[in-house]
Amino acid sequence: MRLTLLALAVLLAPALAVKKQDFKECAQTSFCRRLRSIASRSEAAAAEQRAFESPYTLGSGAQTPSTSAGSWTFPLTSSLYPDISFSLRVDALEAGVVRVRADEVGSATKWRRYNETARWALLEAEPALSASASLTTADGVSTVSYGAKEDGLTLEITHSPLKIVQKRHGTPLVVFNERSLFHVEHFRSKPEPAPEAVEGAEGEGEGEGQKVLAAPETPDRSWFEAEDNDLFEERWKQWTDSKPKGPEGFSLDFSFPGSDHVFGLPEHASPLSLPSTVGEGSYYTEPYRLWNVDIFEYVADSSMALYGAVPLLHAHNKDSSVGVLNLVGSETWVDVAHTDAGVKTHWVSESGIVDFLLLPGPRPTDLFKQYAELTGPAQMPPQFATAYHQCRWNYNTQAEVIEVQDKFDEVDIPLDVTWLDIEYAEEHRYFDWDKKNFPDPVKMQDEVASKGRKMVAIVDPHVKKQDSFRIYTDSRDQDILIKKADGNNFDGWCWTGSSVWVDFFNPKSWEWWTRMFTFGVWKDSTKALFIWNDMNEPSVFDGPEITMPKDNIHVGGWEHRDVHNINGMMFHNQTQHAITVREADAKRPFVLSRSFFAGSHRYGAIWIGDNLGTWDHLAGETAVFLSNSIAGMSFVGSDVGGFFGNPSHEILVRWYQAGAFMPFFRAHAHIDTKRREPYLFDEPIRGYIRDAIRLRYQLLPTWYNAFHDAATHGYPVIWPQYAYFPEDEGGFAVDDQYYVGDSGLLFKPVVTEGATTTDVYLADNQPYYDYFSDRVFPASAKPRNVTIDTPLESFPLLVQGGHIVPSRQRVRRASTLMWQDPFSLVVALDRDGNAQGQLYLDDGEGYGFESGEYVHRALSFKSKGYAGSLASTKTGDNAADNAWAKKIAHVGVERVVVLGFRGLPSSVTVGGKEAEFEFKVANKGGESSVLVIKNPGVKVVDDWVIEIA
Ligand SMILES: *[C@@H]1O[C@H](CO)[C@@H](O)[C@H](O)[C@H]1NC(C)=O
Ligand SMILES: *[C@@H]1O[C@H](CO)[C@@H](O)[C@H](O)[C@H]1NC(C)=O
Ligand SMILES: *[C@@H]1O[C@H](CO)[C@@H](O)[C@H](O)[C@H]1NC(C)=O
Repeated sequence: MRLTLLALAVLLAPALAVKKQDFKECAQTSFCRRLRSIASRSEAAAAEQRAFESPYTLGSGAQTPSTSAGSWTFPLTSSLYPDISFSLRVDALEAGVVRVRADEVGSATKWRRYNETARWALLEAEPALSASASLTTADGVSTVSYGAKEDGLTLEITHSPLKIVQKRHGTPLVVFNERSLFHVEHFRSKPEPAPEAVEGAEGEGEGEGQKVLAAPETPDRSWFEAEDNDLFEERWKQWTDSKPKGPEGFSLDFSFPGSDHVFGLPEHASPLSLPSTVGEGSYYTEPYRLWNVDIFEYVADSSMALYGAVPLLHAHNKDSSVGVLNLVGSETWVDVAHTDAGVKTHWVSESGIVDFLLLPGPRPTDLFKQYAELTGPAQMPPQFATAYHQCRWNYNTQAEVIEVQDKFDEVDIPLDVTWLDIEYAEEHRYFDWDKKNFPDPVKMQDEVASKGRKMVAIVDPHVKKQDSFRIYTDSRDQDILIKKADGNNFDGWCWTGSSVWVDFFNPKSWEWWTRMFTFGVWKDSTKALFIWNDMNEPSVFDGPEITMPKDNIHVGGWEHRDVHNINGMMFHNQTQHAITVREADAKRPFVLSRSFFAGSHRYGAIWIGDNLGTWDHLAGETAVFLSNSIAGMSFVGSDVGGFFGNPSHEILVRWYQAGAFMPFFRAHAHIDTKRREPYLFDEPIRGYIRDAIRLRYQLLPTWYNAFHDAATHGYPVIWPQYAYFPEDEGGFAVDDQYYVGDSGLLFKPVVTEGATTTDVYLADNQPYYDYFSDRVFPASAKPRNVTIDTPLESFPLLVQGGHIVPSRQRVRRASTLMWQDPFSLVVALDRDGNAQGQLYLDDGEGYGFESGEYVHRALSFKSKGYAGSLASTKTGDNAADNAWAKKIAHVGVERVVVLGFRGLPSSVTVGGKEAEFEFKVANKGGESSVLVIKNPGVKVVDDWVIEIA
């Protein structure tokens, strides 16, 4: 109760705006202050034309590194600390990727650096090495040749001072330590208090070897290292971070010669092409921060940290794309500087080993594949999860949940999933239903399921500290809770009041957590119930920056600071695993997470957190989706309508239109907002929202193709302009429109109030067809903007010439009921009169597709003079007689619409049989020709050709 009042008090604050003072700036965190300042000293040196040379050197050129195939380890030293030894290991991986690791070795202290980030982020902690890679050393430079011969990849490692350059055919792509900012803080002992304060200090020496040595010449370190009084303890507001290990931060410096654009580093509410954070007139003044936090009412344009962190950066120019994946789970800040010589970046992290990978590209598509090879493909979601989700904090009773179903049906708006936020659980003890308001949860779930629908209930990671709650007593008794620095179980405040947190890094928790979701243990759950993991940064209301103290302890003695950004993923993984295996016949799970890390795409969807129902948030979100998407997290969406606030009708309609093109499409709202389910509105508003949701349902086959490509190739579900047209420089910064998979659908949300027209950027020499009308924007050799009428009921949706877009025009109340409905195909011809497409279908819920139970067709339209043909052929080794193909053998194509056909057809035939068609010729007013073929009598599982003569 106290909490609710507290939360309310905060909510009733006059203006909605983030409390910036609740979150640190770089200067308020000591490692960031220290390590960022290396760059300022380097710049000051440059300004005064003083040398600023890296103190780091690899074992002299003559020394042969210890080798195993594809891997070389060098001794590494710093002139600042000649007595401390580091090592640098370079691996050439089979995938053409280079991995570089550095750590302190032979340290005299008991401390170790966290070295398990790769274990969680990568599919294999030690990806296969390239047996064919070779290393030669001459003149203090070791050169590694690796990857496919034709790629011409080399890595040049200059020993003194240390510098690493990745080149393709001699052209530098990325330079490590170009600016000499690389630094690893070694472990040191806590300075003893002044001697007079020490009691009984005598006799503690080792005895032997105590002879007095001549004082070593202390190098002047001040040119490189900053003084800092906060090395072993750090205070911020009322919190003290004990830092028993002392300083162990590191600083990395990557420059991208020739690239003016860098993308990635999600999650930030910034433009996709990351603007500068340093340098004259920089766009932001704070570095991009990676530190997963529960940020309340975040700013729509900022480099502040949000809920997730993927330390992946793409640098791009029209000739090449390269990627840096920095495997670090501790707090990390990244400065971006735009210079005449390309983008330069400076990364500082608080703890852990240095472990980064250089992805060679050279195209964005190659980067997507390389990243997926390292981190694994995205999960293939259950089909229902790609449809519409209705959420609200909260549907308060069982009756209300049923009412929502009925109301959607009454107004003929489809719905697949109804969500329950925290109030379904008694005292927010997730798993324990509030039986007063949900007297028969199983009956409710069955009723929802009887309509082909699903439910999602929230299960957050905070566990109410209450002896009558089995999740608490179990986890306490098994000793799998996260601990405080003093070794006792940590408790903090969250929705549940006083709470504890299970340590999901501890494998002991895994099997237990899985068991909690079995139907035998969670008796109030059914197979129609899926899960939402919120607050997993983790959010701790009374913790520093609303999260966990950094000196909390996880299994193995690691500090929370070492693993913070990975924490949310561990929870997400375990929950999705539990949902997968709760039925004997494993089913695809659906678990939404708020927090994420590199690799989270293996476990399900994310959304971008607590947004505001304002135009600037709606406008800014597109770039966030795209930034998340290129880092694997493309099953992404935002709360439609905005979590906070009461959006106007206009903004709500625009948000639904945007939502219909978000990979994850869910409406959600804060408990204090006015109800805004689509059925509550009068026409025409309700109709506009209905149209948007129905359009999503019609296009679900196209979305499913895109999800399948994401799961198969690592491609994003939605593609930013630069990735779709990597050579078109004019499109690199375009982040307000995007493409759905390889479908050719180009969507742009309308994000300004009162907009009656919207400009869309077209990059290539192809016609683009308006999805909603017969209008065509002709091919043009030059990139151009075209203006589209966008009254409230409409928005830009174009089809790039050359694509075939599959859809199902009959919409049912839930997508799961549409599996045997016929398909429609829109064939949008390119300049040469050709088009390609695909259709991927499976049972939408199981894993049969992994053993061949699916239908995957290649669709192809070819023009020959004034004739043409549309053919469907099977792809790859898709067996014609697999179980799913048999099940949908009767499903046909009911309509084909060919746009831009040049002939004047006199007949349309399939296997010699005439099919009905209509043809409308193109007109000079900018309308394309439209050929509509009705009921051609072909089945989706068969090979067929439709001939047009
Ligand atoms: C991490 O370091 C420890 C020793 O410090 C070592 O035993 C372990 O194998 C390392 N783990 C990985 C994944 O490299
Ligand atoms: C996910 O869970 C499985 C066990 O279910 C475990 O083997 C794997 O290491 C986990 N990965 C992450 C990132 O949690
Ligand atoms: C398209 O419009 C944008 C925004 O107004 C502008 O920056 C860009 O230069 C235009 N591109 C072309 C090719 O006209």
